[in-house]
Amino acid sequence: MRILGIHDGHNATACLYDSGRIVAMASEERFSRKKNQSGFPRLAVQWLVDTYGLAADHLDLVAVAGLATPMQEFGQQIGPWYRLASTMSRIVPSKITTSPALVKPYLALRRIGTPRVRQLARQLAPYGVPESKIRLVEHHTCHAHASYWLDLRRRSDPTLVVTLDNTGDGSCGSVSVAKGGEFRRLKSYQSLQSIGMMYTAITRYLGMKPVEDEYKVMGLAPYARSAQAETVYQILRAHLDLSADGLDIVNKTGLWEDAYVQRFQRELAGFRFDNIAAGVQRLVEELVPGLLRAWSRTTGVRKLAVGGGVFMNVKLNMLINQMEDFDEVFFLPSCGDESNAAGAALKCAWDLHRSAGKAFDPEPLGALYLGPAFTNLAVEAALTRYAGQLQWRKCDDVERETARLLAENRVVGRMSGRMEFGARALGNRSILARADSLNNVRKINAAIKMRDFWMPFAPSLLAERSADYVINPTKSPAPYMILAFPSTALAATELIAGLHPFDLSCRPQVVEREWNPKFHHLLTCYEQLTGVGAVLNTSFNLHGDPVVCTPANALDTYLRSDLDAVTIEDYVIWDPDRLDMPTACRPC
Ligand SMILES: [Fe+2]
Repeated sequence: MRILGIHDGHNATACLYDSGRIVAMASEERFSRKKNQSGFPRLAVQWLVDTYGLAADHLDLVAVAGLATPMQEFGQQIGPWYRLASTMSRIVPSKITTSPALVKPYLALRRIGTPRVRQLARQLAPYGVPESKIRLVEHHTCHAHASYWLDLRRRSDPTLVVTLDNTGDGSCGSVSVAKGGEFRRLKSYQSLQSIGMMYTAITRYLGMKPVEDEYKVMGLAPYARSAQAETVYQILRAHLDLSADGLDIVNKTGLWEDAYVQRFQRELAGFRFDNIAAGVQRLVEELVPGLLRAWSRTTGVRKLAVGGGVFMNVKLNMLINQMEDFDEVFFLPSCGDESNAAGAALKCAWDLHRSAGKAFDPEPLGALYLGPAFTNLAVEAALTRYAGQLQWRKCDDVERETARLLAENRVVGRMSGRMEFGARALGNRSILARADSLNNVRKINAAIKMRDFWMPFAPSLLAERSADYVINPTKSPAPYMILAFPSTALAATELIAGLHPFDLSCRPQVVEREWNPKFHHLLTCYEQLTGVGAVLNTSFNLHGDPVVCTPANALDTYLRSDLDAVTIEDYVIWDPDRLDMPTACRPC
């Protein structure tokens, strides 16, 4: 059974489900080079077609996330009407344009813009996919199915499946209990109840980019040290709170989106930015665990799987992971809408199995290396453009040589094997550096990242050494950088550049040998050289760009940055103006 999964909203993504497994998944931005690209993921679909020989008669279904047409597509379809509506929404007070009475007609309008399936059929026509093979899957059903089926430890049912996000298909969240593959939805939260929307409104109020920079607000929160943060929290809680039984979310003022931002200009004037960040983070850290606790007690279920953009908040996840109400929690990695491509495909695979009377038991999510890979030949072809400008050398053991460069305190871009799916670089498209030198934070920021000064970096840890660095008494798996932990005293010396500079929390990638043997080998070599079982790992991209995908992207990024060297597959590559021939690469 083969199903093409598509998410065509913010950060559009395509994936291939094949006989019980998500075998490939990548976001459109990696191919188009436009960060968080929305719309039909034409290039990602083309990559799947080219790589896996997808023809319409080899596809059982095309599963598309979302009943409503994504905003951007909708805007293009209704053209002048959309522009008029946008203008009106600026003129008419936002509270009216986002009132509950108007949300439903608005969504209905989006559904009829151009019938969604017909529009998708047009986009899929080059691949010969007939309209009859297209299925639409409701937004939070996608989040829930992705979180449940991809759970690393799904075997222990029943599972409480909770999704929370900004908004999708008129909802901002859902609660279900899944048992033996059967879902029972207990609750849907309407868009106006959105905790994620409140966080986004604060992000916008603080002058950052909404639906993108929420993680920066989270990173800013620990710096607050005043009673002001508590006051901000009380102000926000006067807008959004839980019901008395904790099972529902109550929007007490009926504000949403722009209307929040307008109100904050009055209510939060004079409060310092870090206190505002801390106030909204505290709100999320109170409301979400409160909601989860109430549902766990009501259902008696102690196993939890979560998805939706709210659970990209690694500090919130740290608290959830410490809750005594749950024995196990699965945090879906890159659980924003990009993972809904997989959720849609899994939901449709589940439907097909059920209608055929078969049990459905797909493989849990493993390593996230689900994108394109490139051969040494492709690297050589890309390098020919740079003869005379760059030097390179093919190595027998490029991981050992990379470890040697890192030990010499070089900052190295690494590209190897299949590209990671999702927001985090997990070693295959990563910038690596020594994590015991705070100077490297400054160096990486100056060389390539230009990160906001308060933002932390994260480390990749050898699985065998993780207990030396992070405090994880429940032994929660942490292969994806979606979960933060308190750190140990040793981490504060050996990994200081990979911790949050203020609260010393750590959002690690714990690297198991089976999940990425080459990267594990690199870390092992580095440990032999330095005694430290971890390196600083940040995504391989220039500030504001998507993570690199191809050898050409990696070389271009290297030349436009001040990285010391780059490795692509078996090649070490360097600019002789920046680096003498690396000692590790001298002929023996
Ligand atoms: Fe969502």
